[in-house]
Amino acid sequence: MSDVLEFAAVSVVRGGKTLLDAVDWQVKEGERWVIMGPNGAGKTTLLQIAGGRMHPTRGVAGILEEVLGTVDVFELRPRIGLASAALANQIPEHETVLNVVLTASYGMTGRWREKYEKLDERRAFRLLHDWGMSTFMNRNFSSLSEGERKRVQIARALMTDPELLLLDEPAAGLDLAGREDLVARLSELAADEEAPAMVLVTHHLEEVPPGFTHALLLRDGGVVASGPIGDVFTETNLSTAFDLPLNVQHDGGRWSATARR
Ligand SMILES: Nc1ncnc2c1ncn2[C@@H]1O[C@H](COP(=O)(O)OP(=O)(O)OP(=O)(O)O)[C@@H](O)[C@H]1O
Ligand SMILES: [Mg+2]
Repeated sequence: MSDVLEFAAVSVVRGGKTLLDAVDWQVKEGERWVIMGPNGAGKTTLLQIAGGRMHPTRGVAGILEEVLGTVDVFELRPRIGLASAALANQIPEHETVLNVVLTASYGMTGRWREKYEKLDERRAFRLLHDWGMSTFMNRNFSSLSEGERKRVQIARALMTDPELLLLDEPAAGLDLAGREDLVARLSELAADEEAPAMVLVTHHLEEVPPGFTHALLLRDGGVVASGPIGDVFTETNLSTAFDLPLNVQHDGGRWSATARR
């Protein structure tokens, strides 16, 4: 299996603050990773590097067998699907749902004068259909509910048929039914052998889709634990990461955690 991500001692320093501290991390083809850790732990920063959107201050970030800093990021980025709140904020207010997905093939967030192939339009429609959003294709993205937006963002992230899919808090802001729907869809995607390697950032164990194989726990920019999900999501590791004694349950493929009394 080839390496999708190979980070060696990756550090990021901004304004004198260490956001990531010598992170070693390997993601291989077919793996599905969850990244967890408290607010400010460095999860989004790590994803920004994995997506070729930010360079490490020190260390080496290997992405899809290329080394960040020695490769044209504009060639690398279409090979990586990214869905994040920061990216969603760049979408122009009146952009239609179909265009939000379609513009991903040009690495853009707003439609200007590009001409799209019929093939691209069919693919965008198919992805919207797969994510239950095809009837919304002519609506303004800004008029959608949070749950609807999340599904459009994932369809967009898959538009270029990426080798790596990065999802930063895809379930944030969803109601219970919306969360369960998304978890089921992501679980289905995780089980698809044709699907790209996946990395999902979340704050809640309850949002981890069944079928995810690996986990990385971050705290203060450093790795608390990393590896197969069952080895990482222990009460000891999670309590250390969140600095809170936790009871952790694992039942029917789903995880949950509560404070220990
Ligand atoms: N340009 C910067 N200068 C200084 N500190 C920064 C800069 N950019 C980010 N940070 C800090 O880096 C830390 C890590 O940020 P990051 O967004 O990666 O955390 P996160 O784990 O994604 O948190 P959250 O769960 O809240 O999304 C935060 O404390 C943030 O304030
Ligand atoms: Mg974040």
